[in-house]
Amino acid sequence: MSVIRPASVIRSVVAGFGAALPREQVDNDALVGRGVDTSDEWIRQRTGIGARHVAGADETTVTLATAAARQAMERAGVGPDEVDLIVLGTTTPDDTFPASATRVQAALGVHGGFAFDVQAVCSGFVYALAMADNCLRLGQARTALVIGAETFTRLLDWEDRTTCVLFGDGAGALVLRAEPGAGTAADRGVLTTHLHSDGRHRDALYVDGGPSTTGTVGHVRMKGQEVFRHAVNRLAEVVDEALAATGLSASDIDWLVPHQANRRIIDAMGRKLGLPAEKVVVTVDRHANTSAASIPLALAEAAGDGRIRPGQLVLIEAMGGGFTWGSSLIRW
Ligand code: ACO
Repeated sequence: MSVIRPASVIRSVVAGFGAALPREQVDNDALVGRGVDTSDEWIRQRTGIGARHVAGADETTVTLATAAARQAMERAGVGPDEVDLIVLGTTTPDDTFPASATRVQAALGVHGGFAFDVQAVCSGFVYALAMADNCLRLGQARTALVIGAETFTRLLDWEDRTTCVLFGDGAGALVLRAEPGAGTAADRGVLTTHLHSDGRHRDALYVDGGPSTTGTVGHVRMKGQEVFRHAVNRLAEVVDEALAATGLSASDIDWLVPHQANRRIIDAMGRKLGLPAEKVVVTVDRHANTSAASIPLALAEAAGDGRIRPGQLVLIEAMGGGFTWGSSLIRW
């Protein structure tokens, strides 16, 4: 019996990218100056973080997301009439409802299609990308904005030095367009996505508030060493999954663009894959951990300065509260 193979498949191809950062950059010494009981040396040594951007009163998840999305649309040459899907990964929406994605939709002048938020904390962009890719491949949309945007500093307890030094604010966006591909790993576009969660680890990383419990937004609480241990193991597994699903090997990867939580986790993943440091995109030194925004910010930086070029293979991976974790291979 002959096997019937489709002549072609739909691929979600990157058509544009954009980024937005709050005006104010706060370095480690400035945190000490504001009364946080820490030092530049401690933060750099344990995390690789030197500075972070902190949103001002007029800067919100929606304004940052909109600015990043606009840039991505301009680069892609895509107008508001063409966008028929917006997926926004965020843990810090402007309002409990409606979804911040719908507010971005209105701000961009997009009046068709559909828009929704995805909540997977630091894995938010990988989740959002996977959801958009699914919609495009199913024919539910043709041109998608995938955004990761956060004002994570609004969740910080500035009295808790074990968390407040780690995070920052920002937004990044991609335009994805549905295009036919051959169905091989040589295609441009999102080649594979892999998502996981395990809710048993809630207490390792959470916010101590919410609309249905305290009626407050709450503050980030974290058992840092537990998160660290799980991150290294789960990320290694989910990267292997992506390579196995595509038949590619670590030596095929042109760029590792990991979630930017901690330099030590990033370096451990680079070593695991045998990638030289020049192939690993790092922004954590200047942005700190911007949760769902960190990967699209790093993608936009590396594509904007000419490092990531069309046709190259990009691996993204992230882990966050939940726990959630995931990976994707994208041929740029
Ligand atoms: N400045 C100075 N000292 C500090 C600070 C600070 N900001 N924070 C903690 N310390 C002290 C602690 O009080 C402790 O002091 P003690 O020994 O006198 O009790 C000491 O430093 C060591 O604390 P640890 O928590 O053991 O420090 P560790 O080496 O584990 O580093 C860190 C902490 C950086 C959070 C690390 O565990 C980590 O990176 N974990 C991963 C978590 C992460 O990246 N989370 C981001 C969100 S999740 C994600 O995105 C994957």
